[in-house]
Amino acid sequence: MKGALKPLLLSLLLLLQAGECQEVKVMAAVGETVQLQPKTWPSSWVAINWKVKLHLEGYWILRHDEKGTSANPLLIFADRVSFHPGNLSLKINSVTEKESGLYTMDLMLGDSSGITNNFRLFVLDRIQQPIIKASTSQEHGQCYLTLSCLVPKAAWVTYTWSQGISSQPAPEDHRLEEYQADLQLEITKSSSNTFYRCNASNAISWGMATIDVEPLCNYTANTLAEASSLSYCQAKGLILLLVLGVLITGTVAVHIMAGRQPKQD
Ligand SMILES: *[C@@H]1O[C@H](CO)[C@@H](O)[C@H](O)[C@H]1NC(C)=O
Ligand SMILES: *[C@@H]1O[C@H](CO)[C@@H](O)[C@H](O)[C@H]1NC(C)=O
Ligand SMILES: *[C@@H]1O[C@H](CO)[C@@H](O)[C@H](O)[C@H]1NC(C)=O
Repeated sequence: MKGALKPLLLSLLLLLQAGECQEVKVMAAVGETVQLQPKTWPSSWVAINWKVKLHLEGYWILRHDEKGTSANPLLIFADRVSFHPGNLSLKINSVTEKESGLYTMDLMLGDSSGITNNFRLFVLDRIQQPIIKASTSQEHGQCYLTLSCLVPKAAWVTYTWSQGISSQPAPEDHRLEEYQADLQLEITKSSSNTFYRCNASNAISWGMATIDVEPLCNYTANTLAEASSLSYCQAKGLILLLVLGVLITGTVAVHIMAGRQPKQD
């Protein structure tokens, strides 16, 4: 075997016990090397058969016994499969999504009994960097937002949302009870937690994007507009009051002066 295979290419063997149906779940990223191998096996055996069910179609992969290994040359990924009798590992190089399926190893023992091991292989794409798209609508002074977390090839993706006060994830972030790609929000002026984060994940990877919703809602503009229109109204009122005051004072003054003048004459 090539000892020089890069560690990254070597398998990520995530063995999750599936329990009742005696299936071992194996998650792998597209392009990785996968090794399917039973945890334990008897020290003496006479033959091994590997087969696979891909989309309900069954295929024979290979047989190994004392005469050697014979492999199915018609198998679609025959050139990427190898078997290692020393540790009973079936190795698939550069896996693609098409190799997702149920792999079965039948081990024939000397007393003509057998042991069967099942492996459910899931080959997934790594989550790529998500982006958040926002659409807004403003009604009656309220800002309504829809944030959409977008990742390419979003099969088997789980979304979680959180909210915080800075562009970087922090321990103070609030987790939101929302597990969809879309998040509906009603933003209030007082909120300081204006950074929304989407974490898109699958069994093998995750990616996160953050958006600041503050510039998306025109509260600063609205507040200014309201403030200036208010002060304009107030100014108008003040001017009216002032004019009225001047008029009244003037009228009173004229009356007083008119009353005084004859006496002074
Ligand atoms: C099984 O043996 C082969 C050949 O010695 C080796 O390359 C491979 O890493 C082994 N697999 C595991 C899972 O130990
Ligand atoms: C994103 O979600 C994954 C899966 O739940 C988790 O392992 C990872 O730590 C999360 N990332 C952050 C920054 O919270
Ligand atoms: C906020 O104001 C900017 C610039 O005045 C405008 O382009 C944008 O459409 C406004 N957004 C909303 C939600 O009204």
